[in-house]
Amino acid sequence: MNLADAKISVLDRGFIFGEGIYEVMLAVEGNLLHFKNHFERLQDGAKDMQLDIQFSETKLHDLIKEVLSLNNNPFCSVYLQFTKGAAPRDHYYPTRYDPTLFIMTSPINMPPRLNVVKAILLKDIRWQKCNVKSTSLYANTWAKTKAKKSGGEEAIFERNGILTEGATSNLFLVHRNKVLTPKENEHILPGVTRELVLEIMRRKNIDHEETNISIDSLWKADELLLTSTTKGIVAVKDINGKQIGDGETFNLGVEIFQALKTLSFT
Ligand code: PDD
Repeated sequence: MNLADAKISVLDRGFIFGEGIYEVMLAVEGNLLHFKNHFERLQDGAKDMQLDIQFSETKLHDLIKEVLSLNNNPFCSVYLQFTKGAAPRDHYYPTRYDPTLFIMTSPINMPPRLNVVKAILLKDIRWQKCNVKSTSLYANTWAKTKAKKSGGEEAIFERNGILTEGATSNLFLVHRNKVLTPKENEHILPGVTRELVLEIMRRKNIDHEETNISIDSLWKADELLLTSTTKGIVAVKDINGKQIGDGETFNLGVEIFQALKTLSFT
């Protein structure tokens, strides 16, 4: 179906309450990458929201493959959203509902080499369920736009002096040949790319730790790296106008970029 022909009720709880869960995946030559990981995270979110998605992993995979084959883009992102559908406006979850499922694909450009960006540091004003990939993303869009206005691409959040994640990415900090990343909790999204990078580091015996990272660590870091499905891995050279590392050498970033490429495209 053409995007312009797709219709949704104005009473959809996704529209009325911003109540929904979503996934963004990558597809290469019609193959959906790391679907199992995305499906598991979707299920966790659905459980939290008491939303019965009514599809098995295989059924949903087949459905996405069908949308992919209709669109026929060699490289694309796949956006998938579930809500509890349309119901009279009432804050209580509806007891009976007919879920809305929306799937779209968009062509995407894969960067040929490690991208280097600027970022800003912001207080993490989000809620305490950032582990749920919820469609209520106002805090993220607000932060992202603030970053753009100051000439950057990403906003990095801190909560009580501890780094959490980017507005649309997870973070990794390299200090003296050791890689640190915030541990999984309610303040970060358990990123699919984050898990792939952890797996790559395990395989390559790269020293790493999931731990609390203070803001101060930023100014001592050799590299700061951000990960997400659509961007892969990018390096940050500057936060709030302050240089990170030497601002131009990202050895681990390049290594992981190559490893991720191999994992996804071969
Ligand atoms: N966002 N943290 C946040 C807040 C995110 O929004 C994302 C990704 C990530 C990285 O997760 P993953 O590696 O699974 O993509 C971390 C997607 C891409 C988006 O909202 O478009």
